[in-house]
Amino acid sequence: MSEALRNALIKLQAFIGLIGLAALTPLLILAATLSRLIATVCRCPKPKSIEGEVAVVTGAGHGLGRAISLELAKKGCHIAAVDINLSGAESTCKKIQEIYNVRARAYKANVTNHGELVELNTKVVGDLGPVTVLVNNAGVMLHRNLLNPEPSDVQLMIDVNLTSHFWTKLVFLPPMKALRRGFIVTISSLAGVFPLPYGSAYTATKAGTLAHMRALRVELAMEKQKDIHVTTVMPAFLRTNDEVTHLSNTVGITDLYPLLSGEEVARRVVAGMLRGEHEITLPGLASVLYRLVHLLPVEWQVKMMLLTGSSQFSKFLDWKK
Ligand SMILES: NC(=O)c1ccc[n+]([C@@H]2O[C@H](COP(=O)([O-])OP(=O)(O)OC[C@H]3O[C@@H](n4cnc5c(N)ncnc54)[C@H](O)[C@@H]3O)[C@@H](O)[C@H]2O)c1
Repeated sequence: MSEALRNALIKLQAFIGLIGLAALTPLLILAATLSRLIATVCRCPKPKSIEGEVAVVTGAGHGLGRAISLELAKKGCHIAAVDINLSGAESTCKKIQEIYNVRARAYKANVTNHGELVELNTKVVGDLGPVTVLVNNAGVMLHRNLLNPEPSDVQLMIDVNLTSHFWTKLVFLPPMKALRRGFIVTISSLAGVFPLPYGSAYTATKAGTLAHMRALRVELAMEKQKDIHVTTVMPAFLRTNDEVTHLSNTVGITDLYPLLSGEEVARRVVAGMLRGEHEITLPGLASVLYRLVHLLPVEWQVKMMLLTGSSQFSKFLDWKK
């Protein structure tokens, strides 16, 4: 067969493939939407047990990290509560020990520092045992100056919310691979799929974590590590962080969407993690909505964001802490 004929056949094959895909698109959208709805309504897989396992929870000294630590402890898991703020992590451990019969130890570590995480792992393994649950929760949400952040503020957000997940993966994933089991939970945000105006660094870091975990999931599948589960969580606004709550009240976000409690998110996160769910949005309906919105032309997406409340965010312009 001549070179020209072979090239023509390859082009024809690609063209037929594209036509087939275009013809199937409505069916694929319908199937994907239905499967999402069914998965939301009936979460079938049997939850795994983590009794006696060891969890590292970053940012465990406050807010959602504390609530997730308590929820994991409720399931019988020993807790390494990690925070840059040691007293916060100690309070979390105290609460756990008052209620649950598990071991809980507080550790001071900065998640942006790979060396500190290496040391942390050595200490946790010595104190509690090998880590099989990692919760990447530590995060910063608002810049000191919301509208005109300093370069160092933007860098901090990227380091804490995104880069640190590469360091925790480097430290905690290899032992999980050796044991051929584990859970990695990453707290992203709905901002990762519905952009937050005047929060572009936050939006970018949260979209980045979502993409990071999607790539990791494929890598684990290629390595046949089917018992290491990766769960990404995308919650709407929470009332865990005082500054976020103050901002939400001031600009009226709370009139549109009630803030979620740390406890309700933690319950959903741990239940989903134990059932091996891949991505969790809170509220659940957002998982269908963001996929549908992403099908629209970009200028429509912008208009929709304005219609559905993003105009509230223009009040950020007047907001002072
Ligand atoms: N609050 C919200 O509205 C909201 C919404 C969606 C997603 N989230 C995400 O949920 C997670 C927790 O949010 P929250 O509201 O509980 O926050 P929070 O501010 O109440 O708690 C964050 C904790 O992380 C710790 N921390 C910060 N930087 C750290 C570092 N470099 N090393 C170690 N610890 C560090 C803090 O000391 C604090 O204890 C974050 O990833 C956040 O982006 C929050």
